[in-house]
Amino acid sequence: MIVEKLESPWNLARAAARHFVACSLEAVAIRGLFTVALSGGSTPRSLYEVLADPDEPFRELVPWSNTHFFWSDERHVPPDHPDSNYRMAHESMLSHVPVPKDNIHRIHSENPDPAAAAQAYEETIKEVTGPIVPQLDLILLGLGNDGHTASIFPGSEVLNETTRLVAAPWVEQLKTYRITMTLPLINSATSVLFLVSGSEKAEIVREVLQGPRRCPAQEVKPGSGELWWMLDKDAGSRLHNIN
Ligand code: 6PG
Repeated sequence: MIVEKLESPWNLARAAARHFVACSLEAVAIRGLFTVALSGGSTPRSLYEVLADPDEPFRELVPWSNTHFFWSDERHVPPDHPDSNYRMAHESMLSHVPVPKDNIHRIHSENPDPAAAAQAYEETIKEVTGPIVPQLDLILLGLGNDGHTASIFPGSEVLNETTRLVAAPWVEQLKTYRITMTLPLINSATSVLFLVSGSEKAEIVREVLQGPRRCPAQEVKPGSGELWWMLDKDAGSRLHNIN
């Protein structure tokens, strides 16, 4: 596990962009395609904007035509809904870069049957990445104040999932369904990157990385892949011995 503490959200977005570019070039060099799962929430928006920004050095380095986009989770809303993780990524990055439309594999969360949407998404992932346990090249994740990641919340039955790659848990805390990649899929990735920003996350970051408390984010332990935690200074402010 690599824990990197960056000076500011500005530095955090650019460190994450460097990692994204490095993973994309390595995957395309080895297999001709790069498969990445985007996280939702607010934290990754600045990363997506930096990747798409023509005034930054990253946009021209990403092999967009060989890149396949997935989502590590989605809210049970249509793609044009303000809460849609797809919509956020579309507005902040995908609508501004030369990625083929067929390479954008969003979760069809407008489906009134979330379990069917999850099943369909598992098939989509297997179609692009291969039948057995797909190994995505990069999975982006965030961290909630309760220690949830993707849409794997404390106490969720998804924590015990061992076979399905995508699930549609009812999230009692939010009184809604979510569609989420499961731990078997997340932990089979080549690289998993947690992006965490802001002082309001400092305590949960300390607990997840150095504290006793058990929470879903701690179950992210890639088998053969690498695990990165990129934090801005505020989010990492309560960690000991990590500069
Ligand atoms: C979602 C996310 C979720 C998110 C965390 C952190 O759909 O909400 O995937 O897991 O990453 O809740 O969210 P913020 O970045 O907004 O703090």
